[in-house]
Formats: sequence, structure tokens, C-alpha cells
Amino acid sequence: MTQYRIGYLIGSLATASINRKLAKALVRLAPPELVCTEIPIRDLPLYSYDHDADFPPAARAFKEALEQVDAVLFVTPEYNRSVPGGLKNAIDWASRPFGRNSFTHKPGAIIGTSPGEIRSAIAQQHLRAILASCDCPQMNAPEAYIHFTPGLISDDGEVNDVRCKEFLRRYMQAYARFVAQMASLRS
Ligand code: FNR
Repeated sequence: MTQYRIGYLIGSLATASINRKLAKALVRLAPPELVCTEIPIRDLPLYSYDHDADFPPAARAFKEALEQVDAVLFVTPEYNRSVPGGLKNAIDWASRPFGRNSFTHKPGAIIGTSPGEIRSAIAQQHLRAILASCDCPQMNAPEAYIHFTPGLISDDGEVNDVRCKEFLRRYMQAYARFVAQMASLRS
């Protein structure tokens, strides 16, 4: 069995983040060929191209972590109908300096949860456009707009709804197939 290293970015910096709970659930439900590790974005300073010649240690560590994975999974909330600023900042760091974009050839996937009826859909569409500009190949389907209700996912990632749990399991299986397909295209 070929294993793939998945780095996952959580778009929320909040301690009680529901997207962090979702990420934990995805890690638990992932098929064995996916080895998932969080790539933290919390300690990144705000990006400016003033740093392009000499990235600060947190940004260097972030770029190195991205280099060490085969694929990148984005688990994000929607803030004010778009991607949270912290996540956009992380993507800007990853995309630079010019010519050293960390997303090239890294198969991406997007998922998010919100208690609101639109379930992070607008943020996810914005993120798709951002990642396209970063040359990140993206899994198109299934899309995953998870409606968070109280108790849906426990703090340690147990999903308390059978249909949601099965959907998330299938989502990760689809991602594993996508990552494998992209790897085969490159070999
Ligand atoms: C929100 N929330 C929200 N929800 C949504 O569905 N669409 C939106 O545009 C927004 N906008 C928004 C802005 C800001 C600044 C905050 C703090 C929140 C509600 C949001 O979905 C809810 O707080 C989730 O708990 C956020 O996910 P995390 O951060 O808990 O993972």
C-alpha cells in the first residue's frame, strides 16, 4: 500500500473551533493510506514581500512543513462570507517568494463547517479561486459543506451522526483516490 502524507490547515485560530473538531474527525475517518498531520498557521506573522529575501523562522518552518507533505487539505470556516484572514495570510506566505510556490503539484481539497445555513459555501468558493491562482490542483467532487449542529462532532473528533460520519469517511476515501491519481500522473 502506497502511503501519502497529508498536511491539513485549519482556517480557524479559535481554541474551541468547530473546524478543528471536523479536522479531527477527518483524521479519524481517513483510510490507512493517508497519514495526516496538521500544519499550524497560528504563529505566522502578517505577510509582506519585505520578507521575501529572508523569511522569519515561523514562515520558514511553515514552508518546510508544506514541502514534506504530498497533499494539502483545507478545513475552514467562513468569516464574513470569505476565507478567514489567518488562512489567507498563510496561503500568501506559502505562495512566496516568487518561483517558490509551495502549492505547485500538491493535490488540494477543501471542506468546512458552519452553524449557518450556507455552511461555509462562499468561503470555499473563494478559496477555490485563491488556490487556482496558486496552481494547486483541487479535488472538485465531492464538495463538503457541513452544517454544524450542537454535539455533531465531539472535541476529540467523534461524529455523532451516522450519515454525516459516512459522508466524511467517503470524502476522505475520494481524496485518497484523487491524491493517488495525481501522484500517478507525475510518475
Ligand atoms: C462568523 N460566522 C459566519 N458563519 C457563516 O456561515 N458565514 C459567515 O460569513 C460568518 N461570518 C463570521 C465572521 C466572524 C468574524 C466570525 C467569528 C464568525 C460564524 C461561524 O461560522 C462560527 O463562529 C463558527 O464557529 C466558525 O468556525 P470556527 O472558527 O469555530 O472553526
